[in-house]
Amino acid sequence: MAQTKRIGILTAGGDSPGLNAAIRGVGKTALGFYGMEIVGFRDGFRGIVEDRRLKLDRSTLAGILTVGGTILGTSRDKPHRMTIDGRVHDMTNVIVKNYKRYGLDVLVCLGGGGTQKSALRLAGAGLNVITLPKTIDNDVAMTDASFGFATALDIATDAIDRLHSTAHSHHRIIVTEIMGHRAGWLTLGAGIAGGADVILIPEIPYDVHKIAEAIRRRSRAGTNFSIVAVAEGAMSKEDARPYGIAEARKEKARNQKEKHGAKLELAALEARHSGNTLRLAKQLEELTRLESRVTILGYVQRGGIPSPSDRLLATRLGSACSDLIHENVFGVMVASRGDRAEPVPLEKVAGKRKLVPPDHPWVEAARRVGTCLGD
Ligand code: F6P
Repeated sequence: MAQTKRIGILTAGGDSPGLNAAIRGVGKTALGFYGMEIVGFRDGFRGIVEDRRLKLDRSTLAGILTVGGTILGTSRDKPHRMTIDGRVHDMTNVIVKNYKRYGLDVLVCLGGGGTQKSALRLAGAGLNVITLPKTIDNDVAMTDASFGFATALDIATDAIDRLHSTAHSHHRIIVTEIMGHRAGWLTLGAGIAGGADVILIPEIPYDVHKIAEAIRRRSRAGTNFSIVAVAEGAMSKEDARPYGIAEARKEKARNQKEKHGAKLELAALEARHSGNTLRLAKQLEELTRLESRVTILGYVQRGGIPSPSDRLLATRLGSACSDLIHENVFGVMVASRGDRAEPVPLEKVAGKRKLVPPDHPWVEAARRVGTCLGD
């Protein structure tokens, strides 16, 4: 008789709505449909290192479909760079040891880009690993969508809707910052859906004078307010130039020393970039002579009840994950392709990022309806 399969599961990286729906999708299919066992590890990869577990059974999986966050907790800890007692250690071997000690057949990792890289590393260390794509940024490669994005899109769009009326009443520019350091999907999507007048994303560096001119044009036409939707990582053309050079240096690094140097440079540039939204609002106020205000949406975008489409996506990817475990398909991410869920080798996902192509239909549509993209 075949032995009962044992699944370990964890959530890593920033939390997002739909994580619990995915845990439930994996767990209910594994327990109820295939008769497998499943155990959760708390707070990302740290839980498997520190032996902090949560047994997942029918009662723990009940009632979590609509709950935000993750019942397992999460962290940004990486297996190969984990701070223990104030010092950074490579804990990969401890994870391998504990995986064997718990008699696991597979480790399911729910996460974004960083988690896909960590999972590939663990696969390289000999573990059976499967991942699911989660992030409000929607930038995981090789999948149509990641859960968390649809809910965040609703939240950010609702915020822009609300900002419209107050911007209109006060004849102000309201600059609203939306999450996304590298990818502009959320800002672009919410900006289009909310009818923002200006949308600024990391993939399209902006010229502040062009934005000011677009706002002044609106004023001349009799509309004395504007909504500017700006991604956290959107940059002016001047700021984007050194950033691009440092990124290329990191990509082309021939050894660890060069890579480390490029990373330090990028970190310094990122530090300098913080507060950019406030500076942008001030620049626009000076250039247009319209009063400006800033609203930073921040973590509100990651919180609360997942939307129906995120629940649906997370449930079907989670359930498909258990199907793949049953078929002994490992070393893959469960990607969404149209209505289907498909396994994609982790090598094709890890270290890649799905950015907004400059000629994407969303970009084209935004331009056609007269939205300024700052370029
Ligand atoms: O990757 C998701 C995300 O919410 C980004 O949009 C944001 O830049 C980042 O996480 C914030 O990370 P943290 O939770 O570590 O502050």
